[in-house]
Amino acid sequence: MIKPHGAETLQPLYVSDDAQRAELTKAAEQLPSVLISSGAAASAVMLASGYFTPLTGYMNIAEATRVAADMKLPNGLFWPVPVMNIVPDEQLTDAVKNADRIALRDPNVDGNPPIAVMQVSAIETLSTEQKQLLIEKTFGTTDPEHPGVPAFADVGNNVLSGPIEVLNYSYFREDFPDTFRTAVEIREDIAARGWDTVVAFQTRNPMHRAHEELCKIAQREVNADGVLIHMLLGKLKPGDIPAAVRDASIRAMVEHYFPENTVSITGYGFDMLYAGPREALLHAVFRQNCGATHFIVGRDHAGAGAYYDKFDAQDIFDEIPADALQIGIFRGDWTVWCNKCNEIVMMRDCPHGDDDYFNISGTKQREILAAGEPLPPEIARPEVAEILMEYYQSEANA
Ligand code: ADX
Repeated sequence: MIKPHGAETLQPLYVSDDAQRAELTKAAEQLPSVLISSGAAASAVMLASGYFTPLTGYMNIAEATRVAADMKLPNGLFWPVPVMNIVPDEQLTDAVKNADRIALRDPNVDGNPPIAVMQVSAIETLSTEQKQLLIEKTFGTTDPEHPGVPAFADVGNNVLSGPIEVLNYSYFREDFPDTFRTAVEIREDIAARGWDTVVAFQTRNPMHRAHEELCKIAQREVNADGVLIHMLLGKLKPGDIPAAVRDASIRAMVEHYFPENTVSITGYGFDMLYAGPREALLHAVFRQNCGATHFIVGRDHAGAGAYYDKFDAQDIFDEIPADALQIGIFRGDWTVWCNKCNEIVMMRDCPHGDDDYFNISGTKQREILAAGEPLPPEIARPEVAEILMEYYQSEANA
């Protein structure tokens, strides 16, 4: 199987031994603690799950700045996005400042229980310039209107770095028992299925006809034994479809329109960054870690609004060293319904032009669904349209 990123074996930071975990969870209750951001908690889940192999914890300012500027860890290994624990002043009590070990409390679970214990290597203060640089390099903009920038900009300036041991998977295991999987579990599943070539698909949306066809084309072209649908289960911007609805619609689509045993439906616990190209690189790293040999990057991957050009997230793979990643990238062209072909096509494979393509904007789709009408069959499978319509109507009546 493909090797994890920069390591021979996965390095999940979850304390897997039950007795040790119980002991550490008890100890964590007595330690000085900080309430961390949702983004930092999601990073703890990714570190716990092995997806962020070979990281051992949160980066300090120098490490994060090098990652942001040069996409390199201190040992020179490729890494595209800072992974940090930044907290506001009120979290930085004297007890925390003087501690060697602290508990990190989860903002996304009732009662804010400890999610991890951190060995405190450093507590530093981010200057305005340092913070702007990290944001600019990661997101390509410092615009506070960008849907991912505030999650970085508004969490404070105190950087707590050091290795962590993770006690639980936050709310993901309980809320998505059939879908949340660690990188360790996905590797085991791929081995059990006997798949050699696996193409992974990132999504934060219900899968429409275009997504379905993109997966099928990629599977055919890389000759994959299976498709790993790997959906984001964490926080999204307002207006995006909640994970549970998306999960149901993806399951309906796979059940009705893919051959049996060719798709694995899974999810991971991370908040969406909307960082376009940099996020696409991170996505590729953690798909390699969960054992996929190929990763699909299509049109406007991890984008939002007009912050990135439609294929920036593909072009960035030409800018990194050839040996940065082992995973292969399947670059998908815009995939859309063609009235002349009478099917979904990838534009580069179709002789027709813009006038022949049928598409409707996300906003228009939401209007249709909220009005209780199904999406046209050129856009969505009826089973998917039904689930989405129910969701939008329940929202409208809420
Ligand atoms: S994303 O933020 O997770 O990238 P989304 O779930 O919409 O958003 O997209 C999942 C993947 O499908 C991404 O690789 C994206 O580029 C690709 N994609 C979505 N729609 C299309 C399309 N119509 N044509 C080509 N690629 C697409």
